[in-house]
Amino acid sequence: MAEVLKVAMPKGRIYKKASALFRAAGLPIPLDVDETRKLVIPLPEAGMEFILAKPVDVPTYVEYGVADIGIVGKDVLMEEKKDVYELLDLGIARCRMSVIALPDWTPGIRQRVATKYPNVASQYFREQGQQVEVVKLNGSIELAPLIGLADRIVDMVETGQTLRENGLVELNSIFEITSRLIANRVSYRMKNAEIQQLCDRLQQVINAGAQL
Ligand code: PRP
Repeated sequence: MAEVLKVAMPKGRIYKKASALFRAAGLPIPLDVDETRKLVIPLPEAGMEFILAKPVDVPTYVEYGVADIGIVGKDVLMEEKKDVYELLDLGIARCRMSVIALPDWTPGIRQRVATKYPNVASQYFREQGQQVEVVKLNGSIELAPLIGLADRIVDMVETGQTLRENGLVELNSIFEITSRLIANRVSYRMKNAEIQQLCDRLQQVINAGAQL
């Protein structure tokens, strides 16, 4: 008998696209699963159980094995550096990690950078040979240069609307972000048939270029 796959799914902007991808791959996932307050959703017909998690926590659930697999943005994977397998680029929730500032920004000595991604930002500026002080924030990062907390920010840009509405400009892009399928190392061996079958089905949908 096939084993149930425990799937850590990110609540919020990725969820709808990820569940649409699963549906396109033939898995019977109901539409409104993320609109309840329920956090553990048994999906026996799909042979799965969804664990609805904060996106930043998905790699932690997978690393500890309480979820066999998970879906998470490359931004979180780069920041969290957890010990998990990255199995598949799902090609959804495409955006980029960028350095952003006010249009009149000029380079200076030991500037301050605000971000939700302190590890990503520190590594980037170290590689650039720039000394910066990194300040961790948890959201609305664009506020920081507007009110003088930071000279620059490192943040995700998707449509660019947040930047435009706040009069900020993208100085440069650091890397492209898409959602990834990740797996726990032990689960990948113990539930290999189920995980491989899911990967194959998802890969077919990705190859077919379904617009989600
Ligand atoms: C993200 C990100 C930017 C915005 C980019 O914020 O931090 O602020 O989306 O998207 P856009 O280019 O399409 O405008 P999110 O909505 O996750 O909220 P947060 O500011 O609380 O992190």
